Amino acid sequence: MNKAEYTLEVPTDRFELYRLILEKAVEGPVKVMVAGGVDSGKTTLVNFLLNGLIGEGLKVAVVDSDVGQKSILPPATVSMGFPEGPVRSLSDVYGMYHYFIGTTSPGQYMGEMVVAVSRLTEMASRMADVTLVDTTGFVSGPGSDLKRLKVEAVRPDFLVLLERGNELETLARSVGGHTRVIRLGVSERARRYSPEERRSLRNDKWKTYFRDSRVLEVDLRKIIPTGTAMFQGRELDGREKTLLSRLFDWIIFAGWEFEKYVVVKADAGDPRFPRRGLHAIDFEGLSNLLVGFINEAGLCEALGILKWIRFSDMKAEVLTPLPEDRLSEMTELRFGRIRVLESGEELGLLRREEL
Ligand SMILES: Nc1ncnc2c1ncn2[C@@H]1O[C@H](COP(=O)(O)OP(=O)(O)O)[C@@H](O)[C@H]1O
Ligand SMILES: [Mg+2]
Repeated sequence: MNKAEYTLEVPTDRFELYRLILEKAVEGPVKVMVAGGVDSGKTTLVNFLLNGLIGEGLKVAVVDSDVGQKSILPPATVSMGFPEGPVRSLSDVYGMYHYFIGTTSPGQYMGEMVVAVSRLTEMASRMADVTLVDTTGFVSGPGSDLKRLKVEAVRPDFLVLLERGNELETLARSVGGHTRVIRLGVSERARRYSPEERRSLRNDKWKTYFRDSRVLEVDLRKIIPTGTAMFQGRELDGREKTLLSRLFDWIIFAGWEFEKYVVVKADAGDPRFPRRGLHAIDFEGLSNLLVGFINEAGLCEALGILKWIRFSDMKAEVLTPLPEDRLSEMTELRFGRIRVLESGEELGLLRREEL
């Protein structure tokens, strides 16, 4: 099921916006960013503009940065694609390049989000007449800062704001010098989705993405694990591990010292909480963790689900649709912050500092 589909039943101001973009495209590549709250009709608007512009024979790129409710697969990344013709839904767009975010909740990943959108938009606008950027519905508080940062990095020709009232006033004022702000109302046809419906839509996406996956053995000496405090600094020796394990009643899988101690452990007895200076990572939190295969260009070639890590010989078992013969092109295995099953079920989010 798709949340947003192509429709011409849009408020008339969308046709005016469309004409503005068309006029601007005569001068050179145009970048358009669409922002607004959850279910404000962002994706529907992007789809409307996309089909029209493609129909005019223009080359159009779509950057999908709505990590909470992606249209273009895979989830938890920012993706970019060049549809060849009109699409019934943005979900039908094939994503050509992806930047790994690793979670569906970008609050703690503002840096990644801004870099992702600005890199992919820049790549897109080198090749496309018009680049359309869809964004998350996270627009209040720090979400507003995230939108401002994206605008400052991308400098779109147009920032289209979809508002129910004038809730985006602050954002509109803070970016006025970097872009032309166009404020439109939310269509009365826009419909709200409950958290359960949103989760179920995400489940479908995960399931579809991991459909043709198999478990690959990844050599973490060749494909470097990143995005975590683990694996950095000096490895703890046997004595240190024994000491910590007795002190806290832990089973210790691995440990490192780099400014502070980082250990991967499971509780053997009652949970005990260490003091500052010791960062304890629960082994269980690593199972079914989302990871990204990153290439030399820093882009994400595929997602994976971490099934097992053997610290003794630095091997990881990762369920992924990435073909095995492409593994040698990967330089990093980046750790995300959501645990998910190939059935599509989400097991929970982790905080950035937990890993
Ligand atoms: N102009 C419209 N006509 C019909 N349905 C619309 C229109 N705008 C939005 N919707 C519907 O409202 C819902 C939310 O729109 P969507 O584009 O997914 O919002 P967003 O991307 O901002 O979360 C979707 O089910 C979509 O089909
Ligand atoms: Mg959307």
